[in-house]
Amino acid sequence: MAEGRTERIKKNIAAYPDFPKPGIVFRDIFSILMDPSLSADLMALLEERIATICPDADIIVGLDSRGFLFGMPLALKLKKPFAPIRKKGKLPGVLKRVTYSLEYGSDVFEAQSDSIKPGQKVVIVDDLLATGGTMEAACKLVSDMGGEVQLCLVCIELSGLKGRDKVPNPCHSIVQY
Ligand code: PRP
Ligand code: ADE
Repeated sequence: MAEGRTERIKKNIAAYPDFPKPGIVFRDIFSILMDPSLSADLMALLEERIATICPDADIIVGLDSRGFLFGMPLALKLKKPFAPIRKKGKLPGVLKRVTYSLEYGSDVFEAQSDSIKPGQKVVIVDDLLATGGTMEAACKLVSDMGGEVQLCLVCIELSGLKGRDKVPNPCHSIVQY
């Protein structure tokens, strides 16, 4: 039952107060990946969300780095291509770029120019939505490349930070704190 799976995942995501800075409660998705049964449930819930909302998506985009843990296996399962959006200096070739701010810092995102084609329907996947700066930047980068973001999908949403208000495209999360 969807309710049971979600509750079990939520209960088992470890929280670390004051990491990496005082005042931040770090929600550690790796605590789920250490349990194959919880991992399988989480992957199934993510897959079901894509199948319900945008089964005809053309490509899954994962955000550096924890978004890769979920984006690539989802792409494989759904038989869709996968493309990374990475922090600066990691990708070769001709790139598109955007600057963004984080809950605890700022960074630059890059994508390979030919990875997302104009008109493609895109699902962006990440582990967590906090302030929304990361997902907002990813949406901007994809739309600058001509892609249409149909769904921004995260495992964890920190609802109190209201990150989804910054995200210009439909945003879904599996668990909320
Ligand atoms: C974390 C997390 C999200 C982002 C969310 O990534 O994985 O991508 O922060 O924060 P925001 O909603 O406030 O923008 P981080 O930049 O720490 O990189 P990592 O995945 O490589 O650890
Ligand atoms: N990325 C940004 N904020 C985070 C948090 N509170 N926990 C885990 N990852 C994060």
